[in-house]
Amino acid sequence: MSSVFKEGLEDIVVSTSEICFIDGREGRLLYRGYDVDELVQHSSFEEVVYLLWNGTLPSRKDLEAHVKALNSTANRKLPPKLVTMLRQLPKKTTPMEVLRTGVSALAAFDPDAADNSREATTRKAIRLTAQMPTLVAAWERLRRGKTPVAPNPKLSLAGNFVYMLSGKKPTDLATKTFDVALILHADHEFNASTFAARVTAATLSDLHSAIVSGIGALKGPLHGGANEQVMRMVEQIKTPERADAWIRKALADKARIMGFGHRVYRVEDPRAKHLRRLASELGKQVGNTSYVKILDTVARVVTEEKKIYPNVDLYSGAAYASMGIPTDEFTPIFAMSRVAGWAAHVLEQHAHNRLIRPRAEYTGHARQQYVPIERR
Ligand SMILES: CC(C)(COP(=O)(O)OP(=O)(O)OC[C@H]1O[C@@H](n2cnc3c(N)ncnc32)[C@H](O)[C@@H]1OP(=O)(O)O)[C@@H](O)C(=O)NCCC(=O)NCCS
Repeated sequence: MSSVFKEGLEDIVVSTSEICFIDGREGRLLYRGYDVDELVQHSSFEEVVYLLWNGTLPSRKDLEAHVKALNSTANRKLPPKLVTMLRQLPKKTTPMEVLRTGVSALAAFDPDAADNSREATTRKAIRLTAQMPTLVAAWERLRRGKTPVAPNPKLSLAGNFVYMLSGKKPTDLATKTFDVALILHADHEFNASTFAARVTAATLSDLHSAIVSGIGALKGPLHGGANEQVMRMVEQIKTPERADAWIRKALADKARIMGFGHRVYRVEDPRAKHLRRLASELGKQVGNTSYVKILDTVARVVTEEKKIYPNVDLYSGAAYASMGIPTDEFTPIFAMSRVAGWAAHVLEQHAHNRLIRPRAEYTGHARQQYVPIERR
């Protein structure tokens, strides 16, 4: 066996994939060959989901059918028994824990649960993509002592999520912001959560199990959980005037600054500029420009001092917070989008499957003689 290994699998290629291309030196991200910079201008989250799963942009007819399926109440609504289950959970359960639990429970209600054919996995992927926003919004309302709002099939996935949270028709800017955020988070090659989902799928396990693996990996602060930690940092900094000194002290204390650095990008993450723009526009609309000002100062100092650059998690939370969304919902929102990528990768894994089973370089004891307990 080769003794060459890289801690954290850095730069190790573990498989081929046709879904997503990252150019870490130029700061480019392509889904199926299409640059996200173009997709955020011209496309919609629903179209991007189609692209990721099918490999091509849809015809008008195919897109209409796809949107109809994703938006239908039949696919979006939660089984009533699941809502009863949610009501039993302690109110302190975090939205990400509820999402992990809820997605696992949804498998029990899914008619295709045990069928791993491409057709059945695609049907399950449509349902999960449609149900996850309903689950996240339902928990947000239940924990505030409110009744969940039924999904509205006339609204896009982005608009409907904002509507289900507040019960009010979302503004065009809120819908557009959400749609762009969903497009930007939809896939990112072999990131930790996608790899976790693929490892699960490669045992020939089912889509729901793979997505639960993905959610578990996304939750951590080094991955999707970073967007929540960024907002906690903004809350500690409090005002733009305090940002420069605060971040310099954090760097001097050798703190890890959330929302910066990346395993693949050596320049600014191409998604960050779009999220900054949206956070800035929304902030102006609601009369709170301080989040973006704080983050701009933090970005300037961290980039100057450490030569590490903003990633996708730096500005997304500032946009969501301007919409009044609580901080612990940020990572579930990331998951509501990334489910599209996870599902695309499960379909690809199942189409050319081989069990993923790496090795470890053993650094433990040499063979030892067992010592009976009375002689230890
Ligand atoms: C994303 C991340 C986990 C990548 O980690 P990685 O590829 O394993 O890189 P390392 O943790 O080995 O970091 C390499 C060096 O850069 C520094 N570094 C990387 N990210 C840093 C950050 N956010 N803040 C401070 N220092 C950082 C490390 O301290 C290390 O310095 P050293 O060589 O002097 O010890 C890392 O950049 C990070 O923790 N970022 C913050 C969390 C985050 O925003 N995650 C979301 C990613 S999209």
